[in-house]
Amino acid sequence: MYVLALNASHNNNGNTAFLLNEVLKVCKEGGAQTELASVHEAVMDTKMPFCVACSSPCSKQCYKDTKLDELFEKVKKADAVIFGSPVYFGSMTAQLKAFFDKTRAVRGDKAWVGKYAAAVSVGGSKYGGQERTIDHIQSCCLVLGMTLVGNSSELGAGHFGVSAHAPAVEDEYAKTQAKVLGKRILESIG
Ligand SMILES: Cc1cc2nc3c(=O)[nH]c(=O)nc-3n(C[C@H](O)[C@H](O)[C@H](O)COP(=O)(O)O)c2cc1C
Repeated sequence: MYVLALNASHNNNGNTAFLLNEVLKVCKEGGAQTELASVHEAVMDTKMPFCVACSSPCSKQCYKDTKLDELFEKVKKADAVIFGSPVYFGSMTAQLKAFFDKTRAVRGDKAWVGKYAAAVSVGGSKYGGQERTIDHIQSCCLVLGMTLVGNSSELGAGHFGVSAHAPAVEDEYAKTQAKVLGKRILESIG
């Protein structure tokens, strides 16, 4: 079992990283190999951080042999992927949207179809758009054919993923829901 968490914040030690690690902790305790990776560093390693539709189908030329190429391969190997993003203007960060925009070739190859996907989000405001951010991430996952996992498990019923209010370390409800999501991911992988 390999569970990969993708941090869409530029901050490797921020709220999003904290929340993703809370989910990973449970997965690790359940026997999974876990890893936390930076979407920001991967996208910034490409020749052009945004998809400019330079060829159709996508030739991968902007990201071939970059950290993004490596990250796409890691996702391919993972049994489940947890996407984590801070709320930026009511949605995911530009880095994560750029990441998804660069998956046209992945989608064409059906490389991630059926792979489990979950989402977590942290906002500076209590109701700052965390659920919308999760919704937007899940839309991208569905376009890739991924199978969505929410935070409902034998530990309790939840909703769409984990929404947290920064500082996430003080958000007790979110920390509980992160455990539920981790458990659900393990149950899904089987
Ligand atoms: C450009 C920008 C836009 C933001 N927009 C929102 C927002 O719409 N809603 C919200 O609750 N917080 C918003 N925030 C606050 C971040 O979501 C918050 O600081 C978050 O905890 C950062 O996560 P990190 O510590 O993982 O980087 C915004 C922050 C930035 C820099």
